[in-house]
Amino acid sequence: MDKKFYLTTPIFYPNAKLHLGHAYTTTVSDILVRYHRLAGDKAYFLTGSDENTQKMVDAARREGKEPLEFLDEIVAKFSSLFKELDISYDQFIRTTDQKAHWPGAQAIWNKLVEAGDIYKKEYEGLYCVGHEAFITEKDLIDGTCPDHGTAPEMLKEENYFFKLSRYTQDIKNKIESKELRIVPETREREILSLLNEGLQDVSFSRPRKADWPAGLGIPVPGDDTQVMYVWCDALSNYITALGYGRDDALYQEFWAGNEQRMHVIGKDILRFHAAIWPGMLLSAGLPLPKTLLVHGFITSGGKKMSKSLGNVIDPEELLAEYGTDAVRCFLARHISPFDDGDITREAFKDAYNADLANGLGNLASRIMTLAQTHLEQGTRPDVAGFPQEYTGAMEQFEINKAAEYVWSRIAMLDQKITETAPFKLVKTDPEAGKKIIFDLTQELYLVGRMLNPFMPKTSDIIKKAVIENKKPENLFPRKD
Ligand code: MSP
Repeated sequence: MDKKFYLTTPIFYPNAKLHLGHAYTTTVSDILVRYHRLAGDKAYFLTGSDENTQKMVDAARREGKEPLEFLDEIVAKFSSLFKELDISYDQFIRTTDQKAHWPGAQAIWNKLVEAGDIYKKEYEGLYCVGHEAFITEKDLIDGTCPDHGTAPEMLKEENYFFKLSRYTQDIKNKIESKELRIVPETREREILSLLNEGLQDVSFSRPRKADWPAGLGIPVPGDDTQVMYVWCDALSNYITALGYGRDDALYQEFWAGNEQRMHVIGKDILRFHAAIWPGMLLSAGLPLPKTLLVHGFITSGGKKMSKSLGNVIDPEELLAEYGTDAVRCFLARHISPFDDGDITREAFKDAYNADLANGLGNLASRIMTLAQTHLEQGTRPDVAGFPQEYTGAMEQFEINKAAEYVWSRIAMLDQKITETAPFKLVKTDPEAGKKIIFDLTQELYLVGRMLNPFMPKTSDIIKKAVIENKKPENLFPRKD
């Protein structure tokens, strides 16, 4: 039977265009999905937008637009960015989608009610719109939220609460037994220490705001003066998109009946995914995800890239200047998914010239120039499998190490050409020279295959060049 693979990205807040940090989450996700497809798995790849939020309404009003109209415009920009980045998602879920998302989200809510885990309470606390969450006095620096640079609002309201505290021990057991695997281990330790302090119950609904249009905010079943709170609504997307609570064939196939189901997230939303989401699933009697891959931040000038801090790099700009595969290559190769990674335009250009103009592009052109001149015909190499260094790194989500390995092969081939000088050898010993050139094309083909998850278009161009025995067009012109 085919192996299944289900991977989700976080759903993005549509209050502004996406920046390179968001493009990172999505690109890492796409690379893992493409790797699994390459390995023969049947994959399903979900992404989407987290729309029932105050920050979106605020952003719309600032631009003098109606929230729902504003949403459509921003989400169209998300899709066009993902298209340019070659993100091969199967579905884009929108949490305002009353057919795809709401029935499932309400079905989950009803399960929590049935389990006796929802209760009503008057609540007073500090709400950070940036986080779309209540925060505490001790999270603040000089009265403002350090992540968003804004002061929280004091809110006093009636909310439904979810008895998350009940699940502290169960969640801990799932994580310690690795039934729920959190990668890397530093993040696992971080969440276990939070669990050791014990989880608090969480607010799961908010009073419907007068200025929210109909169509925004999922009504709480049985009480439509309240809407489901952002995170309860948002986390549900991972299974509502598969039809949970309506037509659940995909849910059965990729969630309940699949051992490889994972979420890719940034470290800032670990608590929501490793505590609240498992708590909800436990309460509802549903299976938990198997893996959370938690990546670090793209920083710029040492600070988290974020719109509120004003240090964003627009991915569209890099895409226009360097092309899709160059952007994907940089994100994959030069940032460890387990740590923070800094990006500057200067570093990007240097990496482009080294990795692509002088590296891959130059190698492909050297080998295929030789092949086109000296070999009679191309070949479709008879290849199966991949080197263990490559698959091993990919299986551990160390995509930067897998990319590093590909570039070590590129360096090795360059060296082989220099050492064996086939361009000279063909003149003195044609058979031996041709044999070396032929071997080089086979090696190049393997590089092309391994590049598939990282640089899908370049991978195709390289493989085609070998098969047709033709030097490819200048793939990556040098940038000054
Ligand atoms: N809507 C929530 C997620 C809900 S998932 C059920 C959210 N949205 S977000 O748009 O703010 O962020 C989406 C993802 O982008 C998060 O994983 C976040 O970590 C990631 N990034 C945002 N800025 C980032 C960087 N500067 N670097 C890397 N990733 C960062 O949170």
